[in-house]
Amino acid sequence: MTVALINASPKVKGSSSGILLNDLKECLGNKVDVEEICLRTSKITAEIIEKLKKADTWVVAFPLYVDSLPSHLLACLKQLEKMTWKKPNLNIYGIANCGFYEGNQAEPALNVLKNWCAKAGCAYKGSLGIGGGGAIAVSGNMSGKNSLRANIYKAMKKFADRIVKKEGEANKYATVAFPRFIYKIAAQNSWRKMIKANGGKTKDLNKRLDVELTDTSVNKRIVYEQ
Ligand SMILES: Cc1cc2nc3c(=O)[nH]c(=O)nc-3n(C[C@H](O)[C@H](O)[C@H](O)COP(=O)(O)O)c2cc1C
Repeated sequence: MTVALINASPKVKGSSSGILLNDLKECLGNKVDVEEICLRTSKITAEIIEKLKKADTWVVAFPLYVDSLPSHLLACLKQLEKMTWKKPNLNIYGIANCGFYEGNQAEPALNVLKNWCAKAGCAYKGSLGIGGGGAIAVSGNMSGKNSLRANIYKAMKKFADRIVKKEGEANKYATVAFPRFIYKIAAQNSWRKMIKANGGKTKDLNKRLDVELTDTSVNKRIVYEQ
């Protein structure tokens, strides 16, 4: 059995999706063969197709963007939908990680993946929705029971077992192993550091953009002021 581990974060390095896939790879051990794939742009290359062709199971790991899938991943899925070489019983699992503390924030995005499977003729086998994505990238070694990813690791082990047995189940959700209020404080501190490092001021974090959209159906301009 060959499993394609697909990292669909656009980040070149240090993505939480990549860390979660490494965890999964470790949990899968030598029970399966693994093909590691990165989808960072909206084009599926011939090299990626060759790797995907070898796999009978795909695990698509992606960050939540505006409650959905990143647009480059949607573009890739559209291309893959039409590929006739897909195996008839291709199993699809997802791992969506998000900035929100609660993993079930990713549920609508996982439904998008499920709907894609229905259209593309693949078997959706259930996914993991992981909260606290901002902390995953800095969470270090997962294996210790005091690790920040301890809860996620537990869920990942069960997820790996399901993949090996080709079992389907409802989506499962997990988050980092510390309280929500600490996650919020840490997030706010890191945004302050980031904005200063990029030449801004802390108070700029409260700035909001005026978004101007054109409603083509009635041909008038709508201005959203926040
Ligand atoms: C453009 C953009 C949109 C995002 N939208 C959401 C969102 O709607 N909800 C959420 O919980 N996190 C959101 N996030 C946070 C990411 O999902 C989070 O940082 C994730 O851990 C990144 O994963 P990665 O490192 O695998 O790319 C967004 C991040 C970006 C850059």
